[in-house]
Amino acid sequence: MHILHIVGARPNFMKAAPVMRALQQRGTKQTLVHTGQHYDANMSEVFFSQLQMPAPDVNLEVGSGSHARQTAEIMTRLESVVLERKPDVVAVYGDVNSTLAGALVCAKLLVPAAHIEAGLRSFDRTMPEEINRVVTDRLSDWLFTPSEDAGTNLQQEGVAEDKIFLVGNVMIDSLLRLLPLAAKTDSPVPAERYALVTLHRPANVDSGNALGSILEELLQLSAQLTVVFPVHPRTRQRISDLGMDLGRLHLLDPLPYMEFLALEQRAAVVITDSGGVQEETTYLRVPCLTLRANTERPVTVTQGTNVVVGNDREKLRLELGKILDGNFKAGQPPPLWDGHAAERIAEVLCK
Ligand code: UD1
Ligand code: UDP
Repeated sequence: MHILHIVGARPNFMKAAPVMRALQQRGTKQTLVHTGQHYDANMSEVFFSQLQMPAPDVNLEVGSGSHARQTAEIMTRLESVVLERKPDVVAVYGDVNSTLAGALVCAKLLVPAAHIEAGLRSFDRTMPEEINRVVTDRLSDWLFTPSEDAGTNLQQEGVAEDKIFLVGNVMIDSLLRLLPLAAKTDSPVPAERYALVTLHRPANVDSGNALGSILEELLQLSAQLTVVFPVHPRTRQRISDLGMDLGRLHLLDPLPYMEFLALEQRAAVVITDSGGVQEETTYLRVPCLTLRANTERPVTVTQGTNVVVGNDREKLRLELGKILDGNFKAGQPPPLWDGHAAERIAEVLCK
């Protein structure tokens, strides 16, 4: 059996690494294709060494572009690779444009596709990721879900039961494997008590008004607590366009995985719009405030530490106040977020 994996953006790497390792242990032939959607060293290369992933066999080097251009470019360049490499199965991860492009190419070439992290739904089609999720799931042959709600969503969309496999969360596989090393990693900030911030959703960062209002809030918070903010490249440019004085915030470049985990694990609170960070904080039992109107990861709210505050600044302040007073839900990791999700995927694929 030959499995070809498609990765392209930062959150893909920590999901693919454990699946590749589990398949390698079973002696499966594997090919790794990087689409080049993310290309800065600190958004891509650094993860390969930290996650001990093999270097990509092929890099499509598509780079940035509009949704249509980027997706189409990945499809065009990927088609010939799939035809040439002749995989039995293609694995796609998460909900980025590289995921969607991979699923579309495979569907047209009649190559079976496995979607890892299937079934998540925000029910908000203004998010590009929601379109990617819905279409990728529709086209995939194996739907590996991280939590029960994801399976329920797929059933409600009429997906056949025998395509759905509840395996747990592969991102937590990577977290669990590297947590002992992260715990020994020096914190990139001197403060003992701090808030950790990540922001990259278009709704929060593409409009100057939205981003300016969040930054104002962070400046206010910095009077009380150190604010550490590793800035996504999408957000970096917007911040400089605003010309605000952000000297009181610790703005950093995007961090390598280990350094980010080290910060996340010890944070007093995490303020984010990332999907993966909502899950990691739930696992780590670190309070998380999500600056989005909704989440496709509801178990992080019902079972974990996540509170969705949207763009309600009053609610953000209220929830922050509670957390800083030590009054927050500890929650617990959802079932099967146990470090073995990738092994369960490998078992199904190798059958
Ligand atoms: C993408 C995903 C998003 C995911 C995020 C993870 C889609 C539609 N979006 O968003 O779901 O949460 O990755 O981080 O697939 N850029 C650089 N260097 C890079 C990469 C990007 O400078 O290495 C800049 C470019 O200006 C680019 C912008 O960031 O135009 C956005 O990159 P893109 O990959 O289109 O979307 P993300 O916002 O990163
Ligand atoms: N992450 C990282 N360095 C950073 C910010 C995030 O290593 O500076 C990791 C984080 O631990 C998680 C993943 O990146 O594993 C989340 O990716 P991202 O927020 O880019 O995308 P999303 O999950 O929102 O799609």
